[in-house]
Amino acid sequence: MAKVIIKTYPNKQVRINHLSLYNFKNHAEIKIDFKADITCITGKNGIGKTNILDAVYLLSTCKSYYNAIDYQLIKHGETICAINADFSNGQQYDLQMQIENGKKKKLKKNDKFYEKLIDHIGLINAVIITPGDIELVLGLSEDRRRYIDICISQCDRVYLNCLSEYNKVLDQRNRQLKLFAQHRHFDEILLDSFNAKLIPAGKYIFDKRVEVLSKINGYFNEYYQTITSGSENVSLRYDSDLLHQNFEQLLRENTDKDLALERTSKGLHKDDLVFEINGYPLKKFGSEGQSKSFIIALKLAQYRYLTEVLNTPPILLLDDLFEKIDEQRAQQLIDLISTDKFGQILITDTHEERVRKHFENALKSINFVGL
Ligand SMILES: Nc1ncnc2c1ncn2[C@@H]1O[C@H](COP(=O)(O)OP(=O)(O)OP(=O)(O)O)[C@@H](O)[C@H]1O
Ligand SMILES: [Mg+2]
Repeated sequence: MAKVIIKTYPNKQVRINHLSLYNFKNHAEIKIDFKADITCITGKNGIGKTNILDAVYLLSTCKSYYNAIDYQLIKHGETICAINADFSNGQQYDLQMQIENGKKKKLKKNDKFYEKLIDHIGLINAVIITPGDIELVLGLSEDRRRYIDICISQCDRVYLNCLSEYNKVLDQRNRQLKLFAQHRHFDEILLDSFNAKLIPAGKYIFDKRVEVLSKINGYFNEYYQTITSGSENVSLRYDSDLLHQNFEQLLRENTDKDLALERTSKGLHKDDLVFEINGYPLKKFGSEGQSKSFIIALKLAQYRYLTEVLNTPPILLLDDLFEKIDEQRAQQLIDLISTDKFGQILITDTHEERVRKHFENALKSINFVGL
């Protein structure tokens, strides 16, 4: 059995030391101390294990990984919820998030409220791997764009700003295209003024996606081969209109089409990631375990990218990691995340014994929290 050892962490490594939840989803009140490198949260289905990971993710990114609407985070029948946590990354941070029905959520760091939540992004980094990530394989291209956007935004404020500018201008351009149709009048100069704002933001996003995906691709392949002991060939490819044409030309050549469709038909908002296994589309030809292995390798590649750019490992949140993957892949994975390239890890599982067994020979300390 792995021993619980309280370890002093190297400076700057991000770490959550304590978490308190009040009326957060199904938790009326819960307090957890994170005493070891790895904390495994166990308990039966529906007890609230994933919700705890989501609270940590929320404090990292200011967004829930599961609920797009904030009031859904408040316990049914209540009007307010709070998440408090102690973090360290060389410095100590006391974070308090408050979510109140009908109000914007608020975040306080060491007793001072952030004016804009966006200013918090990047302070506490976390990467989550959860069964719902299967949507990366089965879902729409927007799920895959979200993956790459989260990945880059966590360590590049300019990207985050460009993305927000791009989406704002795209929305304005689309509204204008509808107005042109309604009024049966087209003003080229007006449309060009939207293009002039869209193009620089789009160019930064595109260049960054190319650069980061080429790095992630290498890490992804390496991790997939490690987890699966090299039994399958996988590929990850970036697909974008901008790979074939520059953005300005693309917008210009598609003006008639955009006017007819009353929306912007080409651009970064159409980008996708193409996943293949042994030369075939993963969505159609991958088994559940293969798809899960693919997603795990993809998320670990994100983790490695962030570690290298930030020079410190993020917190890794592993939700139901062992579901759908076989014993051998699970063990390869445990051996991988037990290396010192990984920082603090939070795992959820319904079976404490299963996790204990996998971590029997791991070098890292593990602490179990039963709900
Ligand atoms: N806003 C809310 N108010 C009250 N309960 C909520 C709220 N949001 C979610 N829940 C409840 O939280 C529970 C699910 O919690 P969670 O997904 O964390 O469980 P889990 O322990 O991860 O379960 P599993 O082992 O099945 O993955 C469900 O019972 C759900 O109804
Ligand atoms: Mg769960």
